[in-house]
Amino acid sequence: MAIKGLILAGGTGSRLRPLTYTGAKQLLPVGNRPIIFYAVDDMVRAGITDIGVVVGETGALVREALGDGTQFGCRFTYLPQASPLGLAHAVKIARPFLGNEPFLMVLGDNLLRGGVVSLVERFAAAQPAAAVLLTRVDDPRQFGVAVVESGRVVRLVEKPQDPPSNLALVGVYCFDARVHEAVAHLEPSWRGELEITDAIQWLVDHDQPVDAAEVTGWWKDTGRPEDVLDANRLILEDLEPRLDGSVDRESRLTGRVTVQAGARVERSTLRGPAIIGKDAVIVDSYVGPYTSIGDKVELRGVEIELSVVLPESRLENIEGRIDQSLIGSRVTVCGRQDRPHTVRLVLGDQSRIEF
Ligand code: DAU
Repeated sequence: MAIKGLILAGGTGSRLRPLTYTGAKQLLPVGNRPIIFYAVDDMVRAGITDIGVVVGETGALVREALGDGTQFGCRFTYLPQASPLGLAHAVKIARPFLGNEPFLMVLGDNLLRGGVVSLVERFAAAQPAAAVLLTRVDDPRQFGVAVVESGRVVRLVEKPQDPPSNLALVGVYCFDARVHEAVAHLEPSWRGELEITDAIQWLVDHDQPVDAAEVTGWWKDTGRPEDVLDANRLILEDLEPRLDGSVDRESRLTGRVTVQAGARVERSTLRGPAIIGKDAVIVDSYVGPYTSIGDKVELRGVEIELSVVLPESRLENIEGRIDQSLIGSRVTVCGRQDRPHTVRLVLGDQSRIEF
């Protein structure tokens, strides 16, 4: 059975502003790779190579990053969604691409440690109308929530005030053509979206089997800045040490550190897991565990850990250690020695600074 792929890369990313004013949330890097790349890898690993990508207003950036699929060993078809009217709306606009084929849908801003291979294999073997991945969470109110009996979903609710279980939908769904009928019957929810959760409930209500499997390993929705840092930490747990750039004799590397091609490290201490991007310059600095320094970033006289710095930013002579920070691209942060000791700021809308 040939299964198609559908990756959702539209939406607004409002909780990740200001970073999402100029970029797509699915393109924020963790371990110096855009989050969405990991979803593509998961699909290709499950043998899915004909992949539709639903894009919104950041579509041009997503296309530029993903290309035609050659770099991943798959083929992308871009599916513009005029506005983010819901996950089921995305399925609706993808119909000409999907035809009546079964498909795997994933959210482009979610990360899954265990991949999707076993879910896809089970779906292909049992051929239910749908199969969903679930995980236990502490506060299910911000997710779609499922009630499961003997491996079958019997009820679902989107973002319930009073959750009927602690099993959250992780945004990984297998469907066959029956879902299109369900989507056709939907009305917008209280948040004005066509909810995929409601489409699955429609299948359940019409006696169509919906299988459930639990996530193995971790799962991360990267909706907020702290989630991106968490995701970066989880991805770096699997980092392979590698030295493609140059490190001088006065620098010390401990633990799993990757220095990408063209990067230069001088008189600095790097403590892994950490990654230094292509053509970055690290001088008289400390880069601590769980830190991703983007391509062409310059650090001079800086201590930083548990952080993500996007490409082409410059950080210089900062007093104190930068900790748990998410810094956008082409940002400049400079310490000043002159008197009076003032602070000068040029900050974009919705920036956040903690002294
Ligand atoms: O993260 C898991 C949760 O994802 C599930 O538990 C929920 O049941 C499911 O509804 C979804 O909830 P969110 O409210 O977190 O979804 P969000 O609006 O963040 O959208 C998820 C992804 O889909 C994101 O990458 C943007 C993209 N998207 C979203 C909408 C609404 C689209 O491409 N088009 C859309 O219309």
